[in-house]
Amino acid sequence: MTLDQVIAANRATRQKHPENLMARHFDEDYFRGLDEPSRQRLTRIIASGIENPDSQMGAYAMNPDDYDKFAPMLDPMIRDFHGLPVETAIAQQHDWDTSSTSCDLGAIDRRLKDVSMRVRVARNLSTFPLPGAMSKEQRVALEDLAAAAFENLREDALFGGRYLSITPGSPHEIDAEEYDRRVGAHQMFKDMSGDSYLNTAGISADWPHGRGMYVSKAEDFLVWVGEEDHLRIMAMQRGGNLNAMFERLRIGLERLQDLLPAFATSPSYGNVTSCPTNLGAGMRASLHMKLPKLTSNGHDLARVKREAKTLGLAVRGAGGEHSDAGQDGLVDISPSARLGVTEMKIMRRLYGGAAALWEMETA
Ligand code: ARG
Repeated sequence: MTLDQVIAANRATRQKHPENLMARHFDEDYFRGLDEPSRQRLTRIIASGIENPDSQMGAYAMNPDDYDKFAPMLDPMIRDFHGLPVETAIAQQHDWDTSSTSCDLGAIDRRLKDVSMRVRVARNLSTFPLPGAMSKEQRVALEDLAAAAFENLREDALFGGRYLSITPGSPHEIDAEEYDRRVGAHQMFKDMSGDSYLNTAGISADWPHGRGMYVSKAEDFLVWVGEEDHLRIMAMQRGGNLNAMFERLRIGLERLQDLLPAFATSPSYGNVTSCPTNLGAGMRASLHMKLPKLTSNGHDLARVKREAKTLGLAVRGAGGEHSDAGQDGLVDISPSARLGVTEMKIMRRLYGGAAALWEMETA
């Protein structure tokens, strides 16, 4: 794409898709003022939002230092998404001390004792480019590093389990049937080559090479390898006790960190991720709740989305990103902000938000 084509495309998108944060904050003067190699780099970062005008964010970093290098363009988008006003510096602090608060939904209402909960963090290794800029060899090398780390966890009393690869010819390779079953069980990630946002960013390239998942024996601790970020580390449980699940993730994450090269982090942006929506804590904590009244039995998410937004929560259908509500109004709720909020703040926001929505539902 030429300079003029990029500018014209973004003008058109800004008109038609005001929700596209990349187009909204695209700074023509800044873009024109860059030298040619930098402009090419930035064009790759924003390609997904240009080719997919309906993007919500519309950009993916290709290298960990992109956020510093292109801060004049990316910071306004980041502030907009995470709700960080211009007067405050972009900075990330961490707090994993689950003993500071109790967030047990079952204590609010017995009916919330059995919700399905999940928390994941995105992590990237500082020794590779981000997934959008990796070669096939690098994807496989990263998977080999991860597989060696999992080998050390295999027999662990708490986190022991098995690595399942979908890389053709891998010693850990699983067959198509098992892959489909794991996707159906909401453990494994879907075929990325069907996602046009990831395709235009180059993140799904070389599918399925370098991709796989570690799963603990109890199937409550999972690590995705080679999806939108190098690693997505998650804990999932049924119950209502968020503390227990966050604690499990904290310990598993520490174990893994000791077995791998350093993660890419920054004092401003926290954990560096492909998508600017995941910076900071890199954390998405969610639970599945049945809200038949607030969703008109799952037919209409508009009201619950509005209410949730004022609580700092985003609502998705229970089938994941871009899906509709399930039967009985089953929805997935999660705190939207990940940057500028600590891990514990995310936990409390999810708990408080879920309690508030439940009160509206049962009023
Ligand atoms: N690139 C897509 C968009 O801008 C997805 C953004 C958030 N989701 C994600 N999986 N990173 O709408």
